[in-house]
Amino acid sequence: MPAVYAYAPGKVILTGEHAVVYGQPAIAAPVNEVRARASVEANPKAEPGSVFIIAPDIALKTSLADLPRDHPMVTVIQGVQNALGVKRLPALTLKVSSTIPIAAGLGSGAAISVAVSRALSAFLGSPLNDEEVSRLAFETDQYYHGTPSGIDNTVISFGMLVFFMKEQPIELLTNKRDFTLVIADTGEKSHTGEVVGELRQRVQKKSERYHVIFDQIGKLTLAARRAIEHGELNQLGKLFSDNHALLRQLDVSSEKLDLLVKVALDAGALGAKLSGAGQGGNMIALVNEQDAEKIASCLKSAGAVNTIITTIPKTI
Ligand code: PMV
Repeated sequence: MPAVYAYAPGKVILTGEHAVVYGQPAIAAPVNEVRARASVEANPKAEPGSVFIIAPDIALKTSLADLPRDHPMVTVIQGVQNALGVKRLPALTLKVSSTIPIAAGLGSGAAISVAVSRALSAFLGSPLNDEEVSRLAFETDQYYHGTPSGIDNTVISFGMLVFFMKEQPIELLTNKRDFTLVIADTGEKSHTGEVVGELRQRVQKKSERYHVIFDQIGKLTLAARRAIEHGELNQLGKLFSDNHALLRQLDVSSEKLDLLVKVALDAGALGAKLSGAGQGGNMIALVNEQDAEKIASCLKSAGAVNTIITTIPKTI
């Protein structure tokens, strides 16, 4: 039997990160220029039930049985087995690779879970649908992030521009005009669980102050949704920059993120902000398509370790 392959994209949050954990809406888009890939292959020489995992990007070369029970790879494989009612797996080798940088706000953990659950369920003859792989990726994200809102697993599983609110049905956004983003990596690690946890402590001390900011971010996301639906890119850019200012008030930016945001704006971006948990990781700039290369090169000169140019296609 040939190997079965599956893929999942990276993602960026356009507006609403952090506030989304506190019940506000957020908007996220897939990034198809980077992706996780999983392959599953039968291993006829091994005993039934023996699963070997090779995942060089996360330094894993091991038998499944040797991993701790709460390891995300165990959670996702067990999740697929439970969903399909498969008690014992046939002997197999699972290979995982990813071009999505880790701890950079681009959803690497969720993408690996999605690719693995798609490949394994297809190998077992019953491919799980987007909703099911999203649910499994949410469970593994709890290992990495503690209290994830669910936005990462949702946008990565559906692979579309999404308007997301915790515990609400997902909404796919209609997008009137193509728009182009330059994504730039500070090279500083962004540890989502830590940044979210530290913010939670600050929120507990000064609840009112922070909830005022979360409300403002929520309103801004509603305005961003309208701008996307109406193709108003100048307005969307302004909202990105306003969102960055509010994220700074939450204390989740960093000097390098602020620098790259400024450099992008000075180079002609329509707006710019950090994306994801922050304190490192990536920033995004909304740009006119013809300026993308120039702005990416300015960001690199200012110290970005990598840049990605991506276009979110119009849907109407
Ligand atoms: O995984 P990241 O770094 O893109 O951050 C996720 C976004 C947060 O809103 C900060 C956390 C969450 O669970 O929504």
